[in-house]
Amino acid sequence: MRQKIVAGNWKMNNDLSATQDLLKDLKQQVFPEEVIVMVAPSFTNLYPAFETLREHPVEVIAQNMHQSKNGAFTGEVSASMLQSVGVNTVIIGHSERRAYFQESDAQLAEKVNTALENDMKVIFCVGEELADRNHGDHFEVIKAQLERGLFHIAEKSWKQIVVAYEPVWAIGTGETASPQQAQEMHAVIRETITEQYSKAVGQNLSILYGGSVKPTNAAEIFGKEDVDGGLIGGASLKASDFMAIVNAFS
Ligand code: G3H
Repeated sequence: MRQKIVAGNWKMNNDLSATQDLLKDLKQQVFPEEVIVMVAPSFTNLYPAFETLREHPVEVIAQNMHQSKNGAFTGEVSASMLQSVGVNTVIIGHSERRAYFQESDAQLAEKVNTALENDMKVIFCVGEELADRNHGDHFEVIKAQLERGLFHIAEKSWKQIVVAYEPVWAIGTGETASPQQAQEMHAVIRETITEQYSKAVGQNLSILYGGSVKPTNAAEIFGKEDVDGGLIGGASLKASDFMAIVNAFS
């Protein structure tokens, strides 16, 4: 049975006060037991979020981390720093990291290794640009991202991995992949990983969709066979919208 997951990626939004307001709103909500709910505040707000949600089922996760253990990497945050503030899951390979911070496939593979070595869970993001889709290259692009970022890991490590499919053209644009497009790509992702590893790995892997998920479209997207949840940006910044998306599973 695959885990259903809804993760809110707050990106570079919300100072401490706005974070606390949002956390307070979230704390008042009743979450369905069958869905794992996560939120990813900025680095500066991880510990306050962890403290606020200590007795709460919502997990606090990180948006990124550095691949090295420690050292002279000004501005970066390590796995052990995250774990020291209660964070055990990290998003790796978000398209904004790939595009704006030039994170390469090789670097992402190193980040994955570091997370796994530290017993952290990883939400590994893949996604094609609009030009890739227009050229009909989208499946190959996603397969290459999976291969370069994840196919070096041992089969046993897949229990620590969640894949998020986020077509770049659908992120923050209001343009969502159709439920059919999402299902088609998720099925290809599952099949590719099954072929590379095993049926068990493919069947147990949670694959999230991300890209302009809203309360109005979540149920149809989550209703697709190979969609196991969502990685939500803009709509996760308002507790009522985020809850509506979490509840779209039922
Ligand atoms: O990490 C989340 C994704 O980038 C989706 O963002 O829901 O604002 O399109 P969005």
